Amino acid sequence: MRFQRCSDSSFELTTESPDETFAAGRITGGRLCPGMLLLLKGSLGMGKTRFVQGIGDALGLHGIKSPTFIIMREYNGKVPFLHADLYRIEDRDEADSLGIEEYLDEGFAAAVEWAERWETPPSAKRVDIEFSGSGEDRRLVFAMRGSEIQKEFAALAEDIKSLAMTGES
Ligand SMILES: Nc1ncnc2c1ncn2[C@@H]1O[C@H](COP(=O)(O)OP(=O)(O)OP(=O)(O)O)[C@@H](O)[C@H]1O
Ligand SMILES: [Mg+2]
Repeated sequence: MRFQRCSDSSFELTTESPDETFAAGRITGGRLCPGMLLLLKGSLGMGKTRFVQGIGDALGLHGIKSPTFIIMREYNGKVPFLHADLYRIEDRDEADSLGIEEYLDEGFAAAVEWAERWETPPSAKRVDIEFSGSGEDRRLVFAMRGSEIQKEFAALAEDIKSLAMTGES
């Protein structure tokens, strides 16, 4: 696993196995706060669901599966958590009409797969995570978009950095 800070508002991580991506998700899950929106971008099989399963582990949730067919599913974790997957939305307006913003307003944290299909996501407490890679290597680029989660984002960067340095999570 390798960590690289790019700026105050972005860093990147490379993982070399599904377990490492899961571990990065678990660390991220430990830093979720109410209203936080994670936009997971990147093509098929890049590890977005694997990452969300790690988040679930941190929240005490097991057996998270991709909500591809039902589009979204809510969980009662340590922080209330919404997992959405926009792969199957039909048109551009559908993402807005799902009500994800209302969940955030109510104090849910949310992770959205195929988030590039959402044209107008809110940005106050948002982190975009771009997944790419091949073989077993995955590159995860984290970028803070919101101005209201600077502290949480800085703490997340530190946690992921120590995960990469020690291999411990
Ligand atoms: N470093 C890695 N991190 C995560 N997954 C990996 C890694 N290396 C190989 N894989 C494999 O890649 C696949 C990732 O699947 P996953 O369902 O998490 O992707 P996804 O991005 O959610 O795909 P989709 O777009 O279909 O929702 C799994 O089969 C996993 O075993
Ligand atoms: Mg998926």
